[in-house]
Amino acid sequence: MAPDSTKGAPRHVAIIMDGNGRWAQRQGKPRLFGHHAGAKRVREIVEACPDLGVKYLTIFAFSTENWKRTQTEVAGLMSLFRRYITKEARALRDEGVRVRFIGDRVRLDAKLIALMDELEEMTSMNDRVHLTIALNYGGRDEVARATKRLAQDVADGKLDPATVDEETLPKYLDTCVLPDPDLVIRTSGEARISNFLLWQSAYAEYEFIDTLWPDFSRDVFAGIVNGFGGRDRRFGAVAT
Ligand code: IPE
Ligand code: IPE
Ligand code: MG
Repeated sequence: MAPDSTKGAPRHVAIIMDGNGRWAQRQGKPRLFGHHAGAKRVREIVEACPDLGVKYLTIFAFSTENWKRTQTEVAGLMSLFRRYITKEARALRDEGVRVRFIGDRVRLDAKLIALMDELEEMTSMNDRVHLTIALNYGGRDEVARATKRLAQDVADGKLDPATVDEETLPKYLDTCVLPDPDLVIRTSGEARISNFLLWQSAYAEYEFIDTLWPDFSRDVFAGIVNGFGGRDRRFGAVAT
């Protein structure tokens, strides 16, 4: 692909992968069947990124609110995450994908945390695509945890409160090494952000589409990413 064809592409795309449950239920299948189908979609979307000019992809896999679901569904999802990491680790590494996790790890089981650490470590030299997986992630929880650490630095005399400005807090967020998302996509027809990347998406463009996540194909993704170039992002200024 010619280098110019990705000019104006969103550098960082974040996706709220929604609709797995409805996709399964429409076929008379259990919700977990939909989660498995959804997980299978991720590879295709990650692999599409380099050609589309997308350097950073962040996907919402499990929210801090998703613990409210039945024990069966939560346990099934946790087991899916463990299996997914085990199965996909090598392919992700070989494809040049650098994987990071954001979210609070304290509620996750030790085996899953070990797999997450291992995957981050084994892909840490990669730079082709940066895949961030939000697991037990909530935007408010992230800001609260960041504030706690910031307050601790003030208490320890490492940070002068008078110097705190809007560049300070992001350094304490889970996403501190990532650029802000340019485009946030939500599948399944819901037009809400459900506590995803609250601080980081202040100036993101949003795309809400009816497709359920297990039906989200490379072509649908490419259509949205290619359409992004036509948007006029003014960031509060007057169009020139
Ligand atoms: C998104 O699909 C995946 C997770 C939240 C883990 P859902 O499970 O929310 O699917 P719907 O919205 O019920 O269809
Ligand atoms: C958002 O989807 C979380 C993830 C995709 C992981 P939900 O299905 O949990 O969001 P609500 O409940 O519809 O707001
Ligand atoms: Mg949902």
